[in-house]
Amino acid sequence: MKIFMDTANVEEIREFADMGIVYGVTTNPSLIAKSGRTQAEVIPEICALIPGPVSAEVISQDCEGMVKEARELVKIADNVVVKIPCITEGLKAVKILAAEGIKTNVTLVFSLGQALLAARAGASYVSPFIGRLDDIGQDGSKLVEDMVKVFRNYQFKTEIIAASVRNMEHVDRMMLAGADIATIPTKVLRELIKHELTDKGLAKFMEDYQNSLKK
Ligand code: E4P
Repeated sequence: MKIFMDTANVEEIREFADMGIVYGVTTNPSLIAKSGRTQAEVIPEICALIPGPVSAEVISQDCEGMVKEARELVKIADNVVVKIPCITEGLKAVKILAAEGIKTNVTLVFSLGQALLAARAGASYVSPFIGRLDDIGQDGSKLVEDMVKVFRNYQFKTEIIAASVRNMEHVDRMMLAGADIATIPTKVLRELIKHELTDKGLAKFMEDYQNSLKK
């Protein structure tokens, strides 16, 4: 499973980029707003840091507007992927953009049916939002488990990005499900690195090392 960062905070991306674990990045209008900057400022900086896919979302909700925005967004850098909402106009836009060789990430996906339509329209990526399904009492991770089976059954090339990841259990379940990618918020990525026993073990190693110098 590849790791994407789900953030528009360039400093956070820089920190993790240095570790070499981040394959791509996803943003959305809420994350851009949270960064306190504009999409036009942030996306080029992220693309310069991360050579893999960087999703930037359209604001238009009509096919023509989405296609126009997409054509502009991909001029920013070769690795820009255009995020399109899973609505009727969005699926039409995905079909047009796929024919032009523009990569898309169909976002706000909450059902197997939506995932099938996005793949059939020609999406490069599809983003099921697992945390938001959990929020309404459903099992978001189960949707991804089912999607992996369906996409294998039909040998779809569309990659599954598990999105709306909220905790380490989500990450574990996504790995076990065989999701192609999990896009992970910085807080959860930090939690993944840490283990109480790693810290304790390291402290003991250092203590023993210091003691050995005194002999
Ligand atoms: C994914 O592409 C979205 O940006 C993101 O995962 C949404 O997560 P949230 O439900 O925590 O806002």
